[in-house]
Amino acid sequence: MTKLLVTDREGNETAVDGTAGLSVMEIIRDNGFDELLALCGGCCSCATCHVYVDPAFAGILSQMGDDEDDLLDSSDRRLPSSRLSCQIVFSDALDGLKVQIAPED
Ligand code: FES
Repeated sequence: MTKLLVTDREGNETAVDGTAGLSVMEIIRDNGFDELLALCGGCCSCATCHVYVDPAFAGILSQMGDDEDDLLDSSDRRLPSSRLSCQIVFSDALDGLKVQIAPED
């Protein structure tokens, strides 16, 4: 089974099973991380699914769309590694992907 490594806001890292075809947001939410609100359900309109992605995986992630880029610009917590987790579709190629839930805006 492929793994997704999630670091919560307290700095605790947990390995969860990653299901190909689900978004990283769905995997995080389905594993009980309540601090990732994902209020819009993955419609790319809320930015409450903000995560920092391990730069080692930057080259194999899907490209960021304009909507995602604009929404991330509304966050005071944006970093170069910022992504909206609902916009990353998990796949076998992303086995071992590390994401950290961004602080609340
Ligand atoms: S869940 Fe709302 S933008 Fe990702």
